[in-house]
Amino acid sequence: MTLQTDVAAHYGRDELLARLDAALRQLGKDPTRLTIDDLAPIDEFHARGREATVEIAAALPAGITGEVLDIGSGIGGPARYLAARYGLEVAGIDLTPQCVATARELTRRCGLEDRVRFLEADATRMPFASGSFAAAVTVHAAMNIADKEALYGETARVLVPGAAFVIYDILQGPGGEVAYPTPWSMDGRTSFLVDPPALCRLLADAGFEVLEIRDRTAESIEWFEAMAARAAAAGGPPPVGLHLLFGPVFAEMRDNLLRNLREARIAPTLIRAVRR
Ligand SMILES: C[S@@+](CC[C@H](N)C(=O)[O-])C[C@H]1O[C@@H](n2cnc3c(N)ncnc32)[C@H](O)[C@@H]1O
Repeated sequence: MTLQTDVAAHYGRDELLARLDAALRQLGKDPTRLTIDDLAPIDEFHARGREATVEIAAALPAGITGEVLDIGSGIGGPARYLAARYGLEVAGIDLTPQCVATARELTRRCGLEDRVRFLEADATRMPFASGSFAAAVTVHAAMNIADKEALYGETARVLVPGAAFVIYDILQGPGGEVAYPTPWSMDGRTSFLVDPPALCRLLADAGFEVLEIRDRTAESIEWFEAMAARAAAAGGPPPVGLHLLFGPVFAEMRDNLLRNLREARIAPTLIRAVRR
């Protein structure tokens, strides 16, 4: 197995759409006609969900003309948000075939397919000509990518000079080794976290200037605590949520995230950079 097949096996679920449709019906929604808000509890697959996506979008400069690249787009929540709320054109790339297929279908059901497209591709070997994109975002994907020189080198290559690059990733904290399973890795074998100084060096070497670093550990603790409290009060997770992807182990992943956050083993961090 290569890293790519391991990562795709971790995230790929053939049955996800059927489970999601059943959960949406349980909430009285028509799964064939959706809004981005219907999907937010499952398609914003990162610490602080929609709250973080709003922050990521706001960290992009106003008035972008041209397509935005979303690297590791999952089932498409951040890409659809940028299109629906900001009118942007977005291309998402993801390694996992089921994620790409699900992202396309959900985008069609939200009526956003004229502005958002998804391609199956590896972020370390992007199928685009140099200077293809006006801006880029990447949300909680680099944790699974070992070759970060290739990831950020490829990102720099496909962006036009002066383009904004917004990263929201889980970085390594000073508190020691990460406790697994987490939503990005069952046992750490597909996990490649770097700390903030290492990420800044990687970005500088790839041709980016880092403008701002925002540690979102405290906000993430609050968010996961609220999620755990809601589940405890309701006697289980809400119908639509990430447990549809991972099953019962998601509760353990969430609890490990809280422990990792409280013990400073991980640090969800937003970085604003610009392609020199
Ligand atoms: C935790 S999910 C985040 C999805 C999405 N960015 C979001 O925030 O909702 C991580 C995604 O990164 C993708 N990914 C991991 N390694 C990748 C690579 N080398 N190239 C492209 N996508 C990758 C996975 O397939 C998965 O869909």
